[in-house]
Amino acid sequence: MNDPGKNIESVLTENRQFPPSSEFSAQANIGSEQQYMEMWTKAKDDPSGFWGELAKENLDWFQDFDTVMEGDMPETKWFTGGKLNASYQCLDRHLVGPRKNKAAIIWEGEPGDQRILTYQQLHHEVCKFANVLKNLGCETGDRVTIYMPMVPELAIAMLACARIGAVHSIIFGGFSADAIADRNNDAESKLVITADGGWRRGKEIPLKANVDAGLEKSPTVEKVVVYRRTGGDVTMTPDRDYWWHELMDDVDADCPAVELDSEHPLFILYTSGSTGKPKGVLHTTAGYMLGTTMTSRWVFDYKEDDTYWCTADIGWITGHSYITYGPLSNGVTSVMYEGGPNWPDEGRFWQLVEKYQVNIFYTAPTAIRAFIKWGDQFPNQYDLSSLRLLGTVGEPINPEAWMWYHKVIGNEKCPIVDTWWQTETGGIMLSPLPGVTPTKPGSCTKPLPGVVPAIVDEEGNPVEEGGGLLVMTQPWPHMLRTLYGDHERFVDVYFSKFNGKYYFAGDGARLDSDGYYWVMGRVDDVLNVSGHRLSTMEVESALVAHDNVAEAAVVGFPHELKGEGICCFVTLKSGDGSDAEKEELKQHVRKQIGAIATPDKIKIAPQLPKTRSGKIMRRLLRDIAAGRDVSGDVTTLEDAGILDKLREDD
Ligand code: PRX
Repeated sequence: MNDPGKNIESVLTENRQFPPSSEFSAQANIGSEQQYMEMWTKAKDDPSGFWGELAKENLDWFQDFDTVMEGDMPETKWFTGGKLNASYQCLDRHLVGPRKNKAAIIWEGEPGDQRILTYQQLHHEVCKFANVLKNLGCETGDRVTIYMPMVPELAIAMLACARIGAVHSIIFGGFSADAIADRNNDAESKLVITADGGWRRGKEIPLKANVDAGLEKSPTVEKVVVYRRTGGDVTMTPDRDYWWHELMDDVDADCPAVELDSEHPLFILYTSGSTGKPKGVLHTTAGYMLGTTMTSRWVFDYKEDDTYWCTADIGWITGHSYITYGPLSNGVTSVMYEGGPNWPDEGRFWQLVEKYQVNIFYTAPTAIRAFIKWGDQFPNQYDLSSLRLLGTVGEPINPEAWMWYHKVIGNEKCPIVDTWWQTETGGIMLSPLPGVTPTKPGSCTKPLPGVVPAIVDEEGNPVEEGGGLLVMTQPWPHMLRTLYGDHERFVDVYFSKFNGKYYFAGDGARLDSDGYYWVMGRVDDVLNVSGHRLSTMEVESALVAHDNVAEAAVVGFPHELKGEGICCFVTLKSGDGSDAEKEELKQHVRKQIGAIATPDKIKIAPQLPKTRSGKIMRRLLRDIAAGRDVSGDVTTLEDAGILDKLREDD
């Protein structure tokens, strides 16, 4: 029975539909197709009216805005003249009623320690830490790097930044010292907030040591605040490094939220693009807060007594929008877990669902594929009957994984929301509404109100049938405003392809005859590894930084668990590449970028397959990496014999 593969039912036809139950629809925040269509049409025809009303009703303003939207894409500004604060939005406004003593964050550490912070307690901690930031010389507009494990202090740090108008730049705890330095330098961060370490599968991740190494190359950083999580040994540099708990002892909890302009930057989050260094995606206050507040209420169907758990790390956009800002703005109880899904065993997530009686569960397809592999006996040990809604994000979900999620986790009663969006979009764009949309396994279904997508060809003409490029034809409040420090690159990457007319997401997609979207993945040189974007170009740069690497080409290949794996074709300066040398190259990339970028395969290539004009033929490398026969035209290849040699090195 323990053969998990046998339990997966293959879905023969993608036309299977799963409508929501009438009970679910009856209680849903958006409960009928008619209501959805009215909202969607109004938002399309009168975006100012639609978003303006929502902003008045759902955000707390210190000063009303004058204009809802101003200017065409890509320079659209939202809610100009208005003043507000994201931390006030997530905290202060809940303190006047029964939410004051409601759990804001239910946290569990990997070793099993627990903390619950009510809205009032979270507010208290955030105000104190905001005063700590001020005492360290941090001012409105300064950039602050946060590199922390999944502890409540991570949310406290981000909300404290927002409270004083400092711009946080969170770096996922899996990134390396070099990645920290690059991001510190690009953002010109003044302060770093970190921890001694974090727990990952029983081992300590040395966060402070990584920061120390990164700071050797980041001259703008003046101070470091260190939260004690693991109790491990760290080196504290005098007059630069301070313990969180010591600083918190000395401050009071009176810190009014600063009244900020609607377009005041809220955060920078770095993401991979196809070329060059990571892109500092910048989101601003009012539009982002409105977007995350509304999309989470529509898609996750929040109710006052829901317990909601998003398993992402706050270091990624999913955690920003749907652990911190969206749920807290709605006054929801959000579960936050420090560790991974398979420690101390593969039932850990389901044990937490039972323990906290989680109602809404949001995770990634890569995790679902791992659950399937580990076997049904883990979820089956626990009572999952509290669940009423399931979600996925980060990559296309294969129908088999969808069906397993539906049956084994959702007991065939929970709607599944497959949410398509990006770091750049700030919030969910395409997704079922759980009380309205009949779902189809593998499709993110339809656009949310306010989202007007299209599928076009290379020239920008609508594609009626089959696949094309996914674009957005209308601005939305929570879209990125710029790439930090490089507005030209922002315009170029997202808007130049169609002469400023559309936002180009970089994904291929197709529409079916019911108007459902099926996202097919990236069309640029960006890999999607376990739901996270990595640029092939960054992995290539890391490889050629190794002394013995002459040239490198990196491609993705289908990977059972990760979605896409990383295959590196490498030409060496000397030697023919022993197993030890391949391992060294893997470790080299891991050290340069972080564990997430560790190559799955290294193939030593005497030379790379190139056209006569010298362009690497990636199409061929993709076929070889996937173990397929090389398809298509190879006549432009300079040396056809090279392909056999590449295939040999397995
Ligand atoms: O290719 C799409 C894929 O993830 C990309 C965005 O990555 P990132 O900015 O890291 O944000 C991930 C979390 C929002 C997209 O361009 N993607 C994300 N969600 C889906 C998806 N592909 C298919 N279906 C999804 N639901």
